[in-house]
Amino acid sequence: MHHDPSSPIGIFDSGLGGLTVARAVMDLLPGEPIVYFGDTARVPYGVKSPDTVARYAAQITRFLLAKNVKLLIVACNTMAAVALPAITGLSPVPVLEVIDAGAESALAATRSRRIGIIATPSTIASHAYESALARLGGPDVYTVAKACPLFVPLVEEGWLDHPATRLVAVEYLAPLAAHNLDTLILGCTHYPLLAPLLAEVVGPGIRLQDSATAVARRAAAILDAKGLRNTAAAPAHSFHVTDLPHRFIAVGERFLGRPMTDVRLETLV
Ligand code: DGL
Repeated sequence: MHHDPSSPIGIFDSGLGGLTVARAVMDLLPGEPIVYFGDTARVPYGVKSPDTVARYAAQITRFLLAKNVKLLIVACNTMAAVALPAITGLSPVPVLEVIDAGAESALAATRSRRIGIIATPSTIASHAYESALARLGGPDVYTVAKACPLFVPLVEEGWLDHPATRLVAVEYLAPLAAHNLDTLILGCTHYPLLAPLLAEVVGPGIRLQDSATAVARRAAAILDAKGLRNTAAAPAHSFHVTDLPHRFIAVGERFLGRPMTDVRLETLV
């Protein structure tokens, strides 16, 4: 497989949430064409078993490798948490994922080394963030984690600043108050859209960290190191989904902050 700077970057997610990562990559690397895959027929992954998520992740990886991508970005925290070996085992190109990147930004932000993590039930059950924080930050990093399964459907409903979402956030985040945290990792693709509301709920003493910008910076460093950075003026992006492309466009443009022109319906094998 031959790659040159014009080869695309593959970004994938269980659905449209990974567009928050695609957006950060487009902002930092505006010349790069992106092939985005969202498994809208089978979302959410965050409440499925690791075996099922790994099987789905392998199918998507094969799909993107067939598009000759030069770099793969796993935008989905759940896939990064439970299916990374299935992805890296198939990929001859570098694989970047959101968990190490999110852990690294949290460690850079924290002063007290007391870090909270909120994510889907599968990501929380995997303890992937705690492992990454201990590996990158050492054993003295204090962590507390909380699954917030209702946030994904609330964001998909567009209830980013809705009283119901606020009520749910207060309920989920109340137990964290006793832990004296100074940093909270938004460990799910959808949560950055709730950042303003979550910041109000947790108060000014806690910084919110997500992985999108950190992953984009890592992508830039890898492409530069390999001489694969593209500086095209208007790269062509394409978006591939497994169901309901019209809904993907309607909701996804809010995640991406830009119009989506080339959206295609795909069947995975
Ligand atoms: N993309 C998933 C994540 O970041 C959230 C949506 C889902 O559960 O599939 O964990």
